[in-house]
Amino acid sequence: MTGRFISFEGGDGAGKSTQIRILAARLQASGRTVITTREPGGTPTAETIRRLLLSGIAEPLGVDGEAVLFAAARADHVERVIRPALQRGDWVLCDRFVDSTRVYQGAAGADEALLNALERVAVGTTRPDLTFILDIPASLGLERVRARLVAVGAPPDRFEGEALAQQEKRRQAFLAIAARDPGRCVVIDGTQKEELVAHAIWQALAERLLNEAAA
Ligand code: TYD
Repeated sequence: MTGRFISFEGGDGAGKSTQIRILAARLQASGRTVITTREPGGTPTAETIRRLLLSGIAEPLGVDGEAVLFAAARADHVERVIRPALQRGDWVLCDRFVDSTRVYQGAAGADEALLNALERVAVGTTRPDLTFILDIPASLGLERVRARLVAVGAPPDRFEGEALAQQEKRRQAFLAIAARDPGRCVVIDGTQKEELVAHAIWQALAERLLNEAAA
């Protein structure tokens, strides 16, 4: 038995973590074993690398250097968590995966040959069966991130703090990935109410992976 691997992608503030929670609960209620995880992170070492990346400590390494760190974290995560879970037959829901590197580091000018090589090494053949791209206008994403940060009294992370134009460029880059790979990617309108987003996700998942009528 092999499990299913689903990644969630989108700009900051697109609502990925909420939707992952909702989908995990629904899959669990239908009797499946689900693990939820995130990138960068998902293992103790990868969480340490996450802190370096999000704090901005690694920024002097430049965009290629940061890409190497994202890939190192990913390699550990794939090897220790994602691949074993899939081999057990579990469902893996992952908050961000390789598309985030393509979009964030790619849009920031990382070398494409480097990104290809890092992806091959870190991921191999362990690729998502399905990727949900939660699409929202960059301005709404920024608004949501700001509201969340004010609520918890935290400063923006290294990537959240960037300007609107950069966020909009990332949005277009996610949409371009979806257009190139429609067999794997489903774009979901993330401006809708939470329940409607969850419904659209469940329907797409039922159509593509569950082989049963959308509930
Ligand atoms: P995340 O915690 O998912 O942020 P948010 O909850 O705000 O969506 O991801 C952390 C940040 O790391 C996010 O701003 C995107 C960035 N990132 C990259 O730049 N490259 C990557 O490969 C990944 C996985 C994340």
